[in-house]
Amino acid sequence: MLELRNITKTYNPGTLTEMCLFQDLTMTVEQGEFVSIVGSNGSGKTSLLNIICGSIPVEQGQVLVAGEDITKMEEYKRYQRIGRVYQNPAMGTCPHLTLFENMSLADHKGKSFGLSPGVNRHRLRVYQEQLSLLGLGLENKLDVLVGTLSGGQRQAVALLMATMTPLDFLILDEHTAALDPKTAESIMILTDQMVRRKKLTAIMVTHNLRYAVEYGNRLVMMNQGKIILDLKEDEKRKGSVEDILHIFNEISIECGN
Ligand SMILES: Nc1ncnc2c1ncn2[C@@H]1O[C@H](COP(=O)(O)OP(=O)(O)OP(=O)(O)O)[C@@H](O)[C@H]1O
Ligand SMILES: [Mg+2]
Repeated sequence: MLELRNITKTYNPGTLTEMCLFQDLTMTVEQGEFVSIVGSNGSGKTSLLNIICGSIPVEQGQVLVAGEDITKMEEYKRYQRIGRVYQNPAMGTCPHLTLFENMSLADHKGKSFGLSPGVNRHRLRVYQEQLSLLGLGLENKLDVLVGTLSGGQRQAVALLMATMTPLDFLILDEHTAALDPKTAESIMILTDQMVRRKKLTAIMVTHNLRYAVEYGNRLVMMNQGKIILDLKEDEKRKGSVEDILHIFNEISIECGN
């Protein structure tokens, strides 16, 4: 279980551009939950993910995983148990390495290794099996440089790489936003399959309200650094895209957008 306890986060403290984003923010995510987070631009979604991953510090409050306080734990250590996929498909993969080398790197995450044992061909069969699950024919392209793959192919690989080792959380920040509608849908379906197959705890930020309603078992809406809607499984099932859009529009009107 993930707990964010009374988190306070101020950007640029003590300067003219000081901005208190989170004040006393508390949120818990249970093991096995698949949470979709929606909210307008600047509402604090990426900042929230960055706090979970340790990419930015907080002034006050605690981040706990399974009861252990990790507030002061460095980002690279947290990433041993966190997989993250970004909006930009180029972020989660190394373009100048082959697909095989990329898979090897992901396979050895958190372990110390030199590059030659790191690209041990013995794992070839395993990588081929995992890539074949993507249904994109990538199992036959292990010697291709990842930089030559399309955005959708790269994002599928990034997703696979992020989930290769055992994880506490899968973090997705608008990971389908840079893709065409058809590819975005297939990456979303793949994501859902992976979360279910590996029984992952996932936190997904999306601007696609339909994805937020259709996928996952919890829907959170943020506005100006606050959680203004939190629908758990049963309530979420009753909600429709129109209902969520209506709430979204109401807060936008209140904000004067
Ligand atoms: N490093 C930073 N320094 C100063 N302000 C920041 C920084 N990062 C984010 N902010 C501010 O914090 C607020 C929340 O930003 P954040 O990126 O978390 O929003 P978001 O909900 O992810 O938005 P979007 O939907 O556009 O991705 C914004 O007002 C932003 O300008
Ligand atoms: Mg963001």
